[in-house]
Amino acid sequence: MPEPYRIGDFKNKMGKRIIIFDTTLRDGEQAPGASLNAFEKVEVAKQLVCLGVDVIEAGFPISSPGDFASVNQIAKNIKGAVICALARSLNKDIEAAANALKPAKRKRIHVFLATSKIHMQYKLKKAEDEILKIAESAVKYARKFCDDVEFSPEDASRTEPDFLCRVIEKVIKAGATTVNIPDTVGYAQTSEFGALIRSICNRVPNINQAVVSVHCHNDLGVAVANSLSAIKNGAGQIECTVNGIGERAGNAAVEEIVMNLMTRKDFFDHMYTGINPKEIYKTSRLVSSLTGFAIAPNKSIVGGNAFRHESGIHQDGVLKKRQTYEIISPDDVGFYGQGLVMGKHSGRHAFSDRLKQLGFKLTIAQVEKAFVRFKILADKKKEVFDDDLSAIVEEQIGGFPEGWVLTELEFKGGTHINPQAKVKLQKQKQIFEAESYGDGPIDSCFKAIEKIIKIKSKLLEYSISAVTSGKDALGGVSLKLEIKKQHIQGRGASTDIIEASAKAYLNAVNRVLLKTKVIANRNGEV
Ligand code: KIV
Ligand code: ZN
Repeated sequence: MPEPYRIGDFKNKMGKRIIIFDTTLRDGEQAPGASLNAFEKVEVAKQLVCLGVDVIEAGFPISSPGDFASVNQIAKNIKGAVICALARSLNKDIEAAANALKPAKRKRIHVFLATSKIHMQYKLKKAEDEILKIAESAVKYARKFCDDVEFSPEDASRTEPDFLCRVIEKVIKAGATTVNIPDTVGYAQTSEFGALIRSICNRVPNINQAVVSVHCHNDLGVAVANSLSAIKNGAGQIECTVNGIGERAGNAAVEEIVMNLMTRKDFFDHMYTGINPKEIYKTSRLVSSLTGFAIAPNKSIVGGNAFRHESGIHQDGVLKKRQTYEIISPDDVGFYGQGLVMGKHSGRHAFSDRLKQLGFKLTIAQVEKAFVRFKILADKKKEVFDDDLSAIVEEQIGGFPEGWVLTELEFKGGTHINPQAKVKLQKQKQIFEAESYGDGPIDSCFKAIEKIIKIKSKLLEYSISAVTSGKDALGGVSLKLEIKKQHIQGRGASTDIIEASAKAYLNAVNRVLLKTKVIANRNGEV
């Protein structure tokens, strides 16, 4: 049996290079409740470049003004990857994608059109010949704006294979440089999907003029297996997302694809990617924190238990030779445990250095703000871990400096006491104060906040998790509010869970205010 993968092998490029197309910011963000604002998307995109993805699908510009703005911001600010935008096979969609992508140095337009019988008949109400014509002219139109055009026959895995091959041949002739085969509803079985890719590679006469890509959904839990089977059968690009987030049950997880290729390079004929595995854990954490999607402890590669050995027999084996029960070393994917780093005597310099090592690129003002938060935390908590520091910084990402800030909080409660909270909030140097009773300390606190900000909201989701371990761990609260018919995510962290909840609530409110301001500015309003 070959020795497990070692980190140095990252540079050992013997086989075929597989292109990693990351769609966390498009398909991933389509996951119900995962919406990110433009600032957060730019942060994720920066980290995706550090991770080493080749293509970043930044959004679907025609779908909303917010999506257009995010793609445009990413196109402006992110170098080091191809920036891609999605479009239906309609001229107005393609124009929106081209406009949003204008500032990008390297860009791609991704057009799609459904080709399965069920989609053509019920959704599009079009016959095969019409579909062929629309696909061809959409690709030709996209090529007027961009040399790099990808075409996806949506629901390809349920498309009649002869027709699928005709569509692919046609769009390549029209100028598509990548043809992506989506398993849109996650229906395909692994060997069947591999065979489909193999037959496309064998049957489509001009297939060597384009890269064959796959895009697998996880409805039956086989998205990663199907993607890997596709690679074995000739695919050159994989579309995937961080932590596997995406529409319904999600997409193939980038970290799982990459670590399969690295760990089993013997099986995968030494194929490799441009991914730096040391950035995997940090990327996973950032996406989880910004989307509010917790990672299951048993999730492969990045779950909290992925490198924990509980059974005595396993622990004994690992102590004798690590590879007895460990096929990947945690530090290979950038997981270094909780990493005790600092206490209340640590200085500004050490703090700022540590943030840099953790991969945060902050301005002096942002470091200063985070340092104040760190000092307060270090006073309450003897040991401050890397994950605590990340939580402090992540709380600031996408924030709105002109928004509401919690300055004081007091609450009473108990088995025989009617819960009551008193809050003080600051907005642009003005202080506001209110008190309220409620069904519990968190409810009374939210009601007191509502009295001040005068914005009605409904709490749709609420979850709390410990950022690190121990009695004094930071509690991370993630919640979803409905405000003015919009569903907005908020997050907050504190050693006090009521305070973390209040911060998460204000974070959501501020995100709505920020969104309103961005849209108003774009419309020329103040
Ligand atoms: O799942 C799908 O078919 C898609 C396409 C737009 C590629 O997301
Ligand atoms: Zn998809």
